[in-house]
Amino acid sequence: MEISGAPPGHNGRVALVTGAARGIGLGIAAWLICEGWQVVLSDVDRPRGAKVAKALGDNAWFITMDVADEAQVSAGVSQVLGQFGRLDALVCNAAIANPHNQTLESLSLAQWNRVLAVNLSGAMLLAKHCAPYLRAHNGAIVNLASTRARQSEPDTEAYAASKGGLVALTHALAISLGPEIRVNAVSPGWIDARDPSQRRAEPLTEADHAQHPSGKVGAVEDVAALVAWLLSRQAAFVTGQEFVVDGGMTRKMIYA
Ligand SMILES: NC(=O)c1ccc[n+]([C@@H]2O[C@H](COP(=O)([O-])OP(=O)(O)OC[C@H]3O[C@@H](n4cnc5c(N)ncnc54)[C@H](O)[C@@H]3O)[C@@H](O)[C@H]2O)c1
Repeated sequence: MEISGAPPGHNGRVALVTGAARGIGLGIAAWLICEGWQVVLSDVDRPRGAKVAKALGDNAWFITMDVADEAQVSAGVSQVLGQFGRLDALVCNAAIANPHNQTLESLSLAQWNRVLAVNLSGAMLLAKHCAPYLRAHNGAIVNLASTRARQSEPDTEAYAASKGGLVALTHALAISLGPEIRVNAVSPGWIDARDPSQRRAEPLTEADHAQHPSGKVGAVEDVAALVAWLLSRQAAFVTGQEFVVDGGMTRKMIYA
């Protein structure tokens, strides 16, 4: 839907996507731009974030922001408002995305705290600082959780706890911020979010794909399409929910 007064090819809405220098965040940013959004990409990796934003064209803008640092979150949100004067969507995607930590006996409190700070507290800080602006435009938030919120491999305590917390934070925010702001979580399974050069160098195997009921490992576009729909007005009756996008893996019964 075009909003009157918006520049040509632009739907007039502004989205902030965290952790967008690569992987799923970059895929979400690119998808939203194709749908006509103005997208602010943010990341701690400034060189890479600035490069990909430039490649995405005039409707992409990059800011540096560590989501675990409240001063940086507050300053980043102010930058977005200063530049565009509005904010319609927030995608909390930034994370320490490697799920594996040290064994429990070797896991330091500092490592645990850092994963929780980035993956969970970051989303709370972003929601807190964006809420007044999202409220003004009946905006929406999508948090990137994980199927690891509900199932585990060994030595993934910090990541699993952070994502379980994020699913709970999602419904808490939906109740606190509704009816003006909708809040949902997307929980991906295995998504091949690597750069094309890495994907070519180490291609996935037939077995990687075949184990999925969908017949394939996920791509960033599989996640981006769902996030974009949740941010759209077509999802006006959907809030507080978790959506699993995992090719059916968590519905498959596995006994050796
Ligand atoms: N790829 C998967 O299979 C998969 C599966 C389930 C969930 N997820 C979730 O999806 C999201 C994206 O995953 P990905 O595979 O694209 O990860 P990725 O590691 O490729 O990208 C994460 C990005 O977040 C940034 N980042 C890290 N710490 C940050 C911080 N403190 N502040 C701001 N930015 C920071 C990184 O610089 C990086 O650009 C994450 O929330 C991840 O947990 C991914």
